[in-house]
Amino acid sequence: MSLYVKKGIKFFSIKFARVHTKKSIMNKINAAITAVGGYVPEYRLTNKILETMIDTTDEWIKTRTGVEERRILKGEGLGTSDLGVGAVNDLLKKRGISPDEIDCLICATVTPDMSFPATANIICDKVGIKNAFGFDVGAACSGFLFALTTGSSLIESGRYKKVIVVGADKMSSIVDYSDRTTCVIFGDGAGAVLLEATNEEVGVLDSLLRSDGSGRPHLHMKAGGSVKPSSVETVLAKEHYIYQEGQVVFKFAVKGMADISYDLMQKNNLTADDIAWLVPHQANLRIIDATANRMNLPKEKVMINIQKYGNTTAGTIPLCLWDWEKKLKKGDNIILAAFGGGFTWGATLVKWAYDTK
Ligand code: UT7
Repeated sequence: MSLYVKKGIKFFSIKFARVHTKKSIMNKINAAITAVGGYVPEYRLTNKILETMIDTTDEWIKTRTGVEERRILKGEGLGTSDLGVGAVNDLLKKRGISPDEIDCLICATVTPDMSFPATANIICDKVGIKNAFGFDVGAACSGFLFALTTGSSLIESGRYKKVIVVGADKMSSIVDYSDRTTCVIFGDGAGAVLLEATNEEVGVLDSLLRSDGSGRPHLHMKAGGSVKPSSVETVLAKEHYIYQEGQVVFKFAVKGMADISYDLMQKNNLTADDIAWLVPHQANLRIIDATANRMNLPKEKVMINIQKYGNTTAGTIPLCLWDWEKKLKKGDNIILAAFGGGFTWGATLVKWAYDTK
């Protein structure tokens, strides 16, 4: 408290300093990942099969991308929501909770079931999540990280207790299987995490996220949006498929993903020894290697499953967590990193919240 005089009148002022007492740290709400679910369709599109469809070789695909096979969702009337449903049901079963307990479901995707309603709503309906609100996040390959930060903020605000974040894409619905430069990379799949409130110093602790719309000429879908609605002409011109200038995107991706992961380590005073795992977006093994090198991380600390699933866009990062869940230990520092269309990119620091029995 201090005394000061203004225009002859005496004032008392009390300054409340932002002191982080032990009590305030204990009351801080963090968003812990408390369960992981995943789903990939049965059908395996191998490099050998692709050799019969386009002018390519297993050798070229493996050495240039790291992909050996990818899963494809087959079946009339099935879409991205069906992949998401598989992941969410897996997660609810593992955690042993009912759909009624979920407050919000966010779905990151670039292949929504339809323009509207949101795929998140459709997943909620199919799973039986009735007491929640849901919405989609469109940030291409960085979608899961953007959705994870959004979901965490909802938890940290104290207003929501259980939020599901899904990353799901049926990339086969927008891949031109006569374009050998793109069709070898992508696959279908979904992963999901449950976020719950905790007062422990675990969970989604920090993020650096970026987007730069000037990158859109290099990776986009030409038609089907409001600028160029679908027409006979757009279909004939194959404008509803992924358009990617591979080499340009590659250069931006290598720098973008590596730099932001390094920056997040610096910001949090972490060295390579402090990091248990890097969970990189699975776009190309060479981009993953460059990111790990920049962070000074050995290969043993990098989650890589690109050989099994290819690039499932928003699905890659949660699918890695799903595959590695049993190896993760409470207290592990994990850096999730992505780069994708938009351009969008980012890195997120997670302190793992549980041991899997
Ligand atoms: O996840 C979202 C963000 N996306 C990315 O991060 C993807 C980034 N880009 C990439 O991963 C790579 O650029 C690709 C995998 C897409 C392509 O690899 P690349 O090493 O950049 O190949 P390239 O496009 O420079 O093509 C090199 C050669 C070309 O032949 P010429 O012109 O040198 O005779 C291509 O025609 O390889 C040829 N090629 C192929 N050959 C056999 C391209 N695709 C194939 C193929 N099989 N599937």
